[in-house]
This record gives sequence, structure tokens and C-alpha cells, in this order.
Amino acid sequence: MNECSTSSTSSTALASLGVIPIVLVLIIIILIRRERFKSKSLFLDSKVQHVVITGGSSGIGLCIAKECCRLTKKDGSPMFSHVSLIARNMSKLQVAKEEVEKTSSNNKVVVTIVSADVSNYEELSETLKTTILTSNIPTPTLLFNVAGTSIPCRFLESDPSIYSELMSINYLGSVYTTRAVAPLMVENGGGTIVLTSSVAGQVGTYGYTAYSPTKFALRGFAEALMMELAPFNVHVQLSFPPNTDTPGFEKENILKMEECRLIEDEAGLFQPEEIAQKMVKEALSNNTRYLVWFGLEGWMMSTLTCGMSGVHNFVDALCQILLLSLFRFVSLFYLKKFRSLVESCHSKRTNQKG
Ligand SMILES: NC(=O)c1ccc[n+]([C@@H]2O[C@H](COP(=O)([O-])OP(=O)(O)OC[C@H]3O[C@@H](n4cnc5c(N)ncnc54)[C@H](OP(=O)(O)O)[C@@H]3O)[C@@H](O)[C@H]2O)c1
Repeated sequence: MNECSTSSTSSTALASLGVIPIVLVLIIIILIRRERFKSKSLFLDSKVQHVVITGGSSGIGLCIAKECCRLTKKDGSPMFSHVSLIARNMSKLQVAKEEVEKTSSNNKVVVTIVSADVSNYEELSETLKTTILTSNIPTPTLLFNVAGTSIPCRFLESDPSIYSELMSINYLGSVYTTRAVAPLMVENGGGTIVLTSSVAGQVGTYGYTAYSPTKFALRGFAEALMMELAPFNVHVQLSFPPNTDTPGFEKENILKMEECRLIEDEAGLFQPEEIAQKMVKEALSNNTRYLVWFGLEGWMMSTLTCGMSGVHNFVDALCQILLLSLFRFVSLFYLKKFRSLVESCHSKRTNQKG
């Protein structure tokens, strides 16, 4: 009698253990369930599409422009009828335009170049109004904010002016461009706005006291903006590129201290084409992600730093719930390694001076 009741109790316990994951899955689905992103129809149905890319004359931005120009719909027509590139230097833009046009198979894509400084709102909005935000060109359905730059430095030796310079380009540049374009997307019934942060916007490391905060700031902006624009069917996406082999990265390498190089060696180097392909794919995806990462470590970092950020994807939500504490544990090993690299470089320098 006792044995019987013990075995029935344990089978009930086992059955309820099996129910827990099912209930968990159902709760996650209900919590993250949202209307399918309606403006996807803007990308799939309409014949005219306009993508705007800041920083489109070089590196990741240029590769995004080429990818957008290369993409076609099922019927063979171009995914985007208009591709607009924004950057400051006109001669670099001219070269970029020629390169981008070559990637369009039948020259059906109209490539427009605009010289403007994204960190100057008045100049930017006036220039955009007279060039690409006019009634002659379709309203942008997709905006990639990519323009940005980095100046590695040691805080104690830094020129204080670089803090406002980087904030103006990397943070305000994205805010200003979005401010100029988003109202038109709202009027047009929807769109997608992509903001380019960085792995340095997920973790602050040696030499990036000027750069990292500009990329962290984009996250706060993206989260608040996402909540405001969702009712207008305008989606916001935040991407975190890792080290990528671009002209900007090459320039940054000249200024890098030994500590930066050693920490970066842990992360590897990506090609701008693969970063661009994923950014475009995620921006056009039906199963829209809010956080876009690259590689295994990027996935770990995005899961680990998800915080209170929005999540629209079931797999992402499940990974965040199940893996956060494990990834936190792993991160302690990375932090220990970074600290010992910094300390050994510091002792080496002190010994050299002494
Ligand atoms: N490469 C990496 O390892 C890496 C990693 C993580 C994140 N990111 C981010 O990804 C973005 C692109 O990086 P990248 O390496 O491809 O850079 P890049 O090769 O240096 O290209 C930067 C682009 O931004 C434009 N730009 C810079 N300042 C501008 C301004 N004030 N107004 C308008 N356009 C401006 C540049 O053109 P002009 O100079 O002619 O204006 C250029 O077209 C940046 O936001 C960067 O922070 C890069």
C-alpha cells in the first residue's frame, strides 16, 4: 500500500516536472507575442523601396549599400529601387556610388549621394529635405545609422575635446538622422531604423573611455525610441558589430595601445561584408530581432547584457532566461584575463621608465 502510494506520488511529481517546461514555453510565447511586424509588407509588396545609409561611403556602411543594391525580390526586381548614401567627403561618396552601382545587376537601382555632417542637425535636416526627403523620391522604408568613428586613448592622457566630438558623431549623429527621417516613416505607415552600436557598447574595455559611452548611449536611445515608435509600425533594431576589417578600423589601429590590442586579440576580426549581410538580413527578417549580434561571443554578450531590453524572438527570450547565469560565470574568466593583461602591460611600462 505504502509502496503504491510512494510510486504514484513520484510519478505525479515527474509528470508535474515535465509540465513546468511546457508552461514556461507557453508563458514566454504569450509574453513576447506581438503582432507580426506589419511594415514587413512594405518591403515585400511595394515596388518602390528607399534605403538610407549614413556612413555609406566606407567600411560597414558601404558594404550595407552594396548588399541592398544586390538584393532582389522573388520576381527578379530589385529589393530597393533607391539607395541613398550620406557622408561628409564628396569624392569618397562619388567612388562609393560607382562601386555600389556596379553591384546592381541591371542598373535599376537609383543611387543618390548626399554630403552632410550627421553631427550638425540644422545642416543635415536642410540638406536631406532638398535631396532625398523630397516628394520626387519614395519615402525611406529603411534607415541604417552607421556613420561613426573611434579614438582610442588613455583617459589620463586624453584630450578632453574628443569626448564631445565622439558623442556628437556616434550618438547625436544617429539621433539627428533618425529625427529627420522617422516622421516621414510614420506618415508613410512604417519602416525600420537600425542603430549601429558595437561590442564596446556592451562592455567597456581599456582605451575606450571616449568611444564606449557613445555606443552605450545608443542603447538607451533605442529602447526608449522602440517603445514610442512601435504603435506607428516603425521598428527599431540595435546591432553590435565586433572588430571589423574596415578603413576606420585600420585608422583606429594606429592609435591603439598594447592593452587594447591584447584584449582585442581575444575577439578575432570580422569582414565588413559578413557584418553587412547579417545587418541587412536581420532588418528585412520577418522574425524581427531587436538585438543583432555577430559570432558566438557576440551572441553570448548580447544574451548576457539583455537587461530589460525588448525581445520579439522566442529563441532569444528562452536563451536569455536559461543561460544568463552561466554566461555571467563565463564572463568572470574573461574579466580576470583582461585585468591581468592590463596589469602586466602596466608593470612592463613602469619597469621601462624605472
Ligand atoms: N570597424 C569596426 O571594428 C567596428 C566595430 C564596431 C562598431 N563599428 C561601428 O560601425 C560603424 C562603421 O564603422 P566602419 O569601421 O565601417 O567606419 P569607416 O570605415 O571609418 O566609415 C565611417 C563612415 O562614416 C562616415 N562619417 C564619419 N563621420 C561622419 C559624420 N560626422 N557625418 C557623416 N558621415 C560621417 C565616413 O565618411 P566621411 O568621413 O566622409 O564623413 C564613412 O563613410 C561606426 O559607427 C563604428 O563605430 C565599427
